Amino acid sequence: MRISDIASYVDQVVELHGWVYNRTDKGKLQFIQVRDGSGVVQCVAFKKELDEASFEIASHLSQESSIVLTGSVRADSRAPGVPGGFEIGIQSIRLEQQAAEYPITPKEHGVEFLMDHRHLWLRSSRQWAILRIRATIERALRDFMDDQGYLLVDTPILTPSAGENTTDLFEIDFHGERAFLTQTGQLYNEANMMAFGKVYSFGPTFRAEKSKTRRHLQEFWMMEPEAAYLSLEALMDLEEQMMVSVIERVLHRHAPELAIIERDVSKLQAIQMPFARISYDEAIERLQAAHAATDDPERKAMLQITWGEDFGSPHETIIAEMFDRPVFVYHYPTAIKAFYMQPVEGRPEVCRSVDLLAPEGYGEIAGGSERIYDLALLEERITTMALPREAYSWYLDLRRFGSVPHAGFGIGLERTVAWVCGLPHVRETIPYARLLNRNYP
Ligand code: 4AD
Ligand code: MG
Repeated sequence: MRISDIASYVDQVVELHGWVYNRTDKGKLQFIQVRDGSGVVQCVAFKKELDEASFEIASHLSQESSIVLTGSVRADSRAPGVPGGFEIGIQSIRLEQQAAEYPITPKEHGVEFLMDHRHLWLRSSRQWAILRIRATIERALRDFMDDQGYLLVDTPILTPSAGENTTDLFEIDFHGERAFLTQTGQLYNEANMMAFGKVYSFGPTFRAEKSKTRRHLQEFWMMEPEAAYLSLEALMDLEEQMMVSVIERVLHRHAPELAIIERDVSKLQAIQMPFARISYDEAIERLQAAHAATDDPERKAMLQITWGEDFGSPHETIIAEMFDRPVFVYHYPTAIKAFYMQPVEGRPEVCRSVDLLAPEGYGEIAGGSERIYDLALLEERITTMALPREAYSWYLDLRRFGSVPHAGFGIGLERTVAWVCGLPHVRETIPYARLLNRNYP
């Protein structure tokens, strides 16, 4: 039996394979919290109900010992666990391994210590809950795109050229040639889009960013849809529907996990269509108004911004705080965005780009744009940005053979999980975080 299915085993004798999460010693009574990966259940060893050898094992079990037990399932509304409300009366126990002294105890540990023991920390209930929600978000994103008729087409991780910018590249040696870990699947998505119409990629991406913030990972997972004849406005519609369907699924499937991490679900229930849409110009005006309105010098310094500058995370936080649901900011200055973004007609200093900012200070979780589809313009951008033209030769081909207007976006999985789970840092949203100062375990 798996603990997640325990409700259908009431009054039956079951065999449970698990690990000891915690044990309370009451002499003739041993209360053992057992987890099996699918949940946690309280198991009770009562001296007179077990053979002597089993009770001996039960009363010496250390945290994280692996055991196989048989016992009868009882419904008991007071019993703790995930799902709570059930208890197992142990009849026999076999010890698989008596665990050595476990470094992570129910007492408080520092974050660096826990990150050093990430391979064990994953067993803790909070981490367990977060990563289960991550799996659901990942699946919900895929299901949404599949239902919209987008085809999953995988893109390469080893690439000959930069996808997003030339500063944050992990360079590797590809048999004597320079190569890079991919920053984005986008350029390949554009080729795949020409073959399949509507595509998406979902994989690990890499940024050698010198940023040590709560939003930045060196390795993160991104889903990137791309479609022919998609306008920026239709792209926002798509993102909005996607976010709502993801949140709905998390709320529907993960009440116990959300309770474990103490997430305020009312904040998630508020995520309904339509999301606000404001231009970069308007965002700047709002920031400047907030700057003028504050007397707090620290806040004033944080809010300082002039047209043309990119938002820092304080700016994104302030903008997002003006709304109770995600907000789209569109038409950013061309100069602060990637080389491939389509200029706004009649106003080339801004481009057909859009970022989705999450509420509660989580900042940008998705970024997208219409892409330049005119060959001459794209060539000109590649030259101005001093990108190596040969490496983009295949990408330019896409503008030679049946070029069409098209658009796409990328949504960062970890930032989305951090927001949905209400976590202060992205490091807990991925099983093994790669950070500026961390490549272990
Ligand atoms: O805004 P970005 O850089 O956009 C792209 O890479 C486009 N090529 C996507 C596309 O249009 N197909 O990254 C997209 C998202 C961000 O909004 C953010 O959620 C996430 O990827 N992201 C990061 N997440 C964690 N750590 C980092 N260092 C990240 N950099 C970007
Ligand atoms: Mg971006």
